Amino acid sequence: MECRGLSNRKSWLYWSLMLMIIQILIFRQTKGDCIEEERKALLEIKASHMKSYDSENDHFLPTWVDYGSGTPGDGGGDCCDWERITCNTTTGHVTELSLYYLRGTDDDIKFWSKFWPLNVSLFLHFKELRSLNLSDDFLDKEIMKTGLEKLSTLKKLEVLDLSFNDDIDNDILPSLMTLTSLKILDLSFTSLNGNFPLSGMFSPFLCF
Ligand SMILES: *[C@@H]1O[C@H](CO)[C@@H](O)[C@H](O)[C@H]1NC(C)=O
Ligand SMILES: *[C@@H]1O[C@H](CO)[C@@H](O)[C@H](O)[C@H]1NC(C)=O
Ligand SMILES: *[C@@H]1O[C@H](CO)[C@@H](O)[C@H](O)[C@H]1NC(C)=O
Repeated sequence: MECRGLSNRKSWLYWSLMLMIIQILIFRQTKGDCIEEERKALLEIKASHMKSYDSENDHFLPTWVDYGSGTPGDGGGDCCDWERITCNTTTGHVTELSLYYLRGTDDDIKFWSKFWPLNVSLFLHFKELRSLNLSDDFLDKEIMKTGLEKLSTLKKLEVLDLSFNDDIDNDILPSLMTLTSLKILDLSFTSLNGNFPLSGMFSPFLCF
């Protein structure tokens, strides 16, 4: 009898401990800490821009700080708290990237003389991405060679804004046409011109 009582108490302790662990795991998940793979990709995007324009760390995307992985809740580790980013608060996946006009008010001559050689394959890390705004970022048509058509694997991508990137022209259309999930595609103030063979091939709301 005595022994059974003890083992019952032991198992009660065991189960309440398990319950606590499960609760902690659920809490961690619902808190929406960002996904490590996506955090790394964001840091690579930042690094690519800084490298191109020789920017200073404190001025450019100052909230995008790398304190290393495994340090959630310190404001730096959780990329869902960073500026220009929206996450799904349940899954922690990045859903919107508002990367328009990245040079900001720092309207230096260096920006006017150089395109940003962004490798769009970096966005393949954001599996739940819904909206990508790259308006006015000195992108040129070299981005086509960095896997633009591969973005078609992002099945939730609905909004793509490439407006105000002057050098983008009609050559980009074949790659863009593979992005069939798009609902809004903004190509205004680029070098696109003429008539496009869009009917039947392309359904999104197109601005140019
Ligand atoms: C977040 O993700 C969950 C699970 O995929 C989904 O059900 C929910 O609608 C998403 N929330 C938003 C605001 O997109
Ligand atoms: C992209 O961002 C700019 C600047 O905030 C905004 O004016 C534009 O509407 C955005 N594009 C889309 C498609 O939402
Ligand atoms: C872009 O990134 C992908 C994936 O990291 C890489 O395989 C590819 O070579 C890069 N493309 C260019 C043009 O740098």
